[in-house]
Amino acid sequence: LTSERYGVQRLPFAHVSSTDVSFFENLMPGRVITDLDELKLFNVDWLKSVRGCSKILLKPRTTAEVSEILRYCHERNLAVNPQGGNTGLVGGSVPVFDEIILSTALMNQIISFDDVSGILVCQAGCILENLNQYLEQLDFIMPLDLGAKGSCHIGGNVATNAGGLRLLRYGSLRGTVLGLEVVLADGSLLNCLASLRKDNTGYDLKQLFIGSEGTLGVITAVSILCPRKPKAVNLAFLGCPSFSQVLKTFTLCKGMLGEILSAYEFMDNECMKLVEQHLKLTNPVSESPFYVLIETSGSNSAHDEEKLSHFLEHVMASGLVVEGTLASEDKKIKALWALRERITEALTCDGSVYKYDISLPVEKLYDLVTDMRTRLGGSAKNVVGYGHLGDGNLHLNITADSYSHSLLEAIEPFVYEWTSQYRGSISAEHGLGFKKKHYIHYSKPREAVLLMQQFKAMLDPKGILNPYKTLPVKGA
Ligand code: FAD
Ligand code: MLT
Ligand code: ZN
Repeated sequence: LTSERYGVQRLPFAHVSSTDVSFFENLMPGRVITDLDELKLFNVDWLKSVRGCSKILLKPRTTAEVSEILRYCHERNLAVNPQGGNTGLVGGSVPVFDEIILSTALMNQIISFDDVSGILVCQAGCILENLNQYLEQLDFIMPLDLGAKGSCHIGGNVATNAGGLRLLRYGSLRGTVLGLEVVLADGSLLNCLASLRKDNTGYDLKQLFIGSEGTLGVITAVSILCPRKPKAVNLAFLGCPSFSQVLKTFTLCKGMLGEILSAYEFMDNECMKLVEQHLKLTNPVSESPFYVLIETSGSNSAHDEEKLSHFLEHVMASGLVVEGTLASEDKKIKALWALRERITEALTCDGSVYKYDISLPVEKLYDLVTDMRTRLGGSAKNVVGYGHLGDGNLHLNITADSYSHSLLEAIEPFVYEWTSQYRGSISAEHGLGFKKKHYIHYSKPREAVLLMQQFKAMLDPKGILNPYKTLPVKGA
């Protein structure tokens, strides 16, 4: 078969035969899916923008089964696509051709939790929200939170090095993940499942797998440091008259709220209109060009509320903020967060989405949105900006009634050149996957890409793990 998809040639991997299916059925009776209707959901990504044509999905329960699967696939030269909750936004989670889908859906067991150290050890297929609910009963929380929490798996989070809404406070998974268990491409097991805060014995190999998007190994278990559940949480939803006011409010709140600040997110009015129109959510304040969400988390509600009200008095008096609303009760907090968290969903209701996830110096963050708006004029339906301002991470999204190649050509490579000019990152938190791998050079020097290709060749010499993803082919 030499079929081409998206201008990519299928690599000469073996095709799944009936003998292969029998081998897997013998290994995992009842957990081998070959029904084409059932497979549809796993062949298409969350955005419904890329589609594979895999004919088989495997649902292992144990690390030993993952190891057996990969040992067999390696020997047979069969390509494998690791898949968690399939919420990835760069086309990395679904096959390009007929790769075998290896799902972690049944690897959902908590292995241990230590309530002194706060270290959780669990299988890779645990759903993020389930882990958080489990921890909340014990007065702890997960150190990350994202809009896809109800579906994404912790293994998928680690494989994409997901950022999300709490990174400002608890840092990236590169700091909170303490250990990983990984099955390598040939089926061998790498047990780096340490549960230690400090361990300087040689190279920190787990870091290679964090953010490797299923191209270097299959993560089967994760050890992660979890913070205590904050006793007091407050959320302020504020309207700002301009982006420079959004920045000044950020500087001020870092100074005035200090250690209790746990999130600083922003969205523009175009986003607000989309969540109002498509999801029927209500703007809790009067219409403004920008909105910010400021979350505080602390251990003493009186102390936090006092700090927050001083801060709010200050920003209102100085005109940085036009109007705001406050929430300290769970239901209202969730309703306010929905305005920000559900923008992704509202965008998909607006038409074809062109999605960019950019790191930039914070003062430049919104210039890209306004420049893009001017550049595209009437050829785009909406050009919107939102994101994790506290982390210097912009989500620039463009919608159109239908997919248009000429619109894409007007956006790319302009968006990447613009980003590179300020030494930004063309993927702040979503990864490169299938869609963005060719643009890695805008953010990484050739020598770095070459070294990555050498690591890939060493760990997966046959290239069976998530082919066509993350790295461009050598020399390309
Ligand atoms: P999948 O989508 O299944 O896979 C993602 C990648 O990881 C693929 O390349 C896959 O091959 C690989 N992979 C999955 N599991 C494993 C494993 N066990 N071992 C090796 N490789 C594996 N991202 C952010 O960073 N911040 C956000 O705030 C954020 N919000 C989101 C909100 C919404 C509504 C949606 C739909 C997505 C959002 N994302 C966000 C994207 C983000 O990448 C994912 O939600 C999440 O981290 C992916 O987890 P998953 O289990 O769905 O992985
Ligand atoms: C978010 O922050 O909402 C996510 O990264 C998803 C997106 O970029 O749309
Ligand atoms: Zn994000």
